[in-house]
Order: sequence, then C-alpha cells, then structure tokens
Amino acid sequence: MNKKRRLVGQAILAALAFPSSALVQAADTGPIKIGLILPMTGQSASTGRQIDAAVKLWVAQNGNKVAGRTVEVILKDDGAVPDATKRIAQELIVNDKVSVIAGFGITPTALATAPLATQSKTPMVVMAAATSSITQASDFIVRTSFTLPQVATPIADWAAKNKIKRVITLVADYGPGFDAEKFFDSQFRLDGGQILDKLRTPLKAPDFAPVLQKVVDAKPDALFVFLPSGQGAAFMKQFAERGLDKSGVKLISTGDVTDDDQLADMGDVALGVVNSHHYSAAHPSAVNKKFVEAFQAANKGMRPNFMAVGGYDGMRVIYKALETTKGEGGDKLLNAMKGQIFESPRGAVLIDAQTRDIVQDVYIRKVERVPAMGNGLYNVEFDVIKAVKDPGKQK
Ligand code: DHB
Repeated sequence: MNKKRRLVGQAILAALAFPSSALVQAADTGPIKIGLILPMTGQSASTGRQIDAAVKLWVAQNGNKVAGRTVEVILKDDGAVPDATKRIAQELIVNDKVSVIAGFGITPTALATAPLATQSKTPMVVMAAATSSITQASDFIVRTSFTLPQVATPIADWAAKNKIKRVITLVADYGPGFDAEKFFDSQFRLDGGQILDKLRTPLKAPDFAPVLQKVVDAKPDALFVFLPSGQGAAFMKQFAERGLDKSGVKLISTGDVTDDDQLADMGDVALGVVNSHHYSAAHPSAVNKKFVEAFQAANKGMRPNFMAVGGYDGMRVIYKALETTKGEGGDKLLNAMKGQIFESPRGAVLIDAQTRDIVQDVYIRKVERVPAMGNGLYNVEFDVIKAVKDPGKQK
C-alpha cells in the first residue's frame, strides 16, 4: 500500500470511529436541505403539482448551489392529511436535518405543523395555506401565499360600489372559508349592502346542489363564493346545470374559484365572473410573461396558478435568506427572510418583518376570452388595490 492510500484508509477509519464528528462536519459542509411537504395525492393534488413544478422551475433557473453549498429539496406527499404532515415534518427535522420546512397545501396541515417549527427553531415557509391566523401559530412561520381577508375584502367593496345590494355568501366549511365569509360580510355591510344568507359546503367531497337550490329560491343580486383550489370547475358545472348562469344572479368570488389551473376548461359559464386575487397568469408584466413561458415550456399543458407563484416566491425567499446567512439556519435564517422586498410574477411584494406575512397588490379581475393568448379564458385585471396588508391582523 503506498503512503497516500494508507492515509486515506486512516481517514476512513477515523471517520468510522467518530461517527458523530463526521456527521457534524457533514451538516456544516454538506447539502443544505429543504423539506417540501405537499399534497401530491388526494383532493388537493393540483396544489401539490403546481407548487412542485414551480419549485423545480426555480431550481432549474437559479441553480442548486447557494453560498457555495448544494441545495437539496426533499419532496414528501402528505395527501393533505394533517397527522401525516406533522409526522413527515418531524422526520425531516430530526432525521434529515433540514434547514427549512416548506409547502403546506391546506390550512389544517400548516396549523398541525406550526408547533414543531417553534420547538425546533426551523423556519417554516407556507406557500399555499391562506387562513389569516396561520402566521400567528408560530414565530417561525413566513408566508408567501396570501390570506383570505386580503382578497375577500376588496371584492366586497367592489360589489357594493357596483349596484350589488343583496348577496348570499358560499364558502368551504373550514378556516379560510370562515375568513372569507367574515371579511366579505363586514366590508359589504359597512358599504351598505345586505347579506341574505351564509352557506357552507364541506371541505371534502362537497355537493353544491342543496346550497345552489337555496340561491335559486332567494334570488340575490349576487352570490359570493370561496372554495379551495381544485373545486372551482365542479362548482361552475353545477352553477350552470341549475341555470344560475342565466338567472340574473351575478357570480362573484375570490380567485381560488376561477383558478388558472382549471379555468381553461371551465367553459362559457365562467365568462364575466368578477373576482379578486393576487395572481393571474395574464398579469401583464415582463417578469410574469417570462415566468409563464418558462413554466409552460417545462410543464406541457399546464398553466401556472397562484399556488405555483406561492411556491416560486417561497424558493426566492429561502434562497436569498440562505445567501445572507451563508447557509446557516435557525433564527438567523428566519430573520433573513423578514423584510424581503422583490418583484414577483404577481407584482411587487414585501415579507412584513412584524407579521411575517406577505404584503401585496390585490387585483379585481373579470374572466374573459383573450384573443392574444390563444383565445383562452383568463382572469383579466381591471383594477388594483396596492400593497394590501392582511386585514386579519389589524385589530
Ligand atoms: C386554502 C387552500 C386552498 O386551496 C385555497 O385556494 C385557499 C386556502 C387553505 O386551506 O388555506
């Protein structure tokens, strides 16, 4: 055995004898790991598919190296089941020693995991879930999606100012639905409007027929709807089947219902639906055009929706923070996420250092056929409320 080989052999033996010191070294110089927990199966799978595609696009465009170290994204499917999310997060933190946990397709999965972020001081980037209170569940949560109060308030104001006087609200029966209902209701009544009824449908396997019959019977000026991403197409179909699209009852909603993931296939029933949200694939900025083109080139037949943008911007926030800390995690990484300002495909955004929630423009849009974009259905922005903070945090 020559000298060099002998030395290498000794080094390996030393590492085997002191596995813990070898591990510590690996943690400091090895890959920086990001645990990405998404619903890749089940009812919310479109959210997982969109965010996964956007995260992959970010890495393809920006490389897998930050501060001289390799970044590794570990994707795990929680099926949108909170117990699974929590168990997976625990494994990622304890066994894989991830620097960040990210994703969180629906509110219950984010809330179930929040205590683990606090206990382990692991920054947790919420890319999808949108109930206002989530960022208050742990000081280690940073959000890059949106909140329901942020988008439901502007559409209530728009409705009241556009000859809509009597409204029925219809929301999914859980956190974000309660937020949408409450903030639509208070703004609309403040503006002099009247709420005739408040209807709710289950998060899982909703049947819209019974609630739509109530709308047929009550004949409000408008029906306001919030449903989570993935339910819009089924809702629209039943709305049309009941003849409501031709009944004079105006449909208004948050942009979750006219979701870009499904909008192209919704058909004429969606035409003219006025809604409010923070992202449209038709947002007319250079940054967005580049984003949509690259996303579609990498994912044939798919259009990025607001979930994709939440994931893409979440990666931006993580990468920039890792650059600042040179790969260090914990409190330092969390602090480096706070206060980031940048141009997202959705427009200018800020991660509010106090609330750790996103401040962003909210657009009023109308579903139209856009000849310049293959005559497809898009949410076309026609008004904007600038730099909206989550109204859920303002007491
Ligand atoms: C949530 C999920 C969605 O799909 C959506 O569009 C909005 C909110 C949530 O569970 O927080």
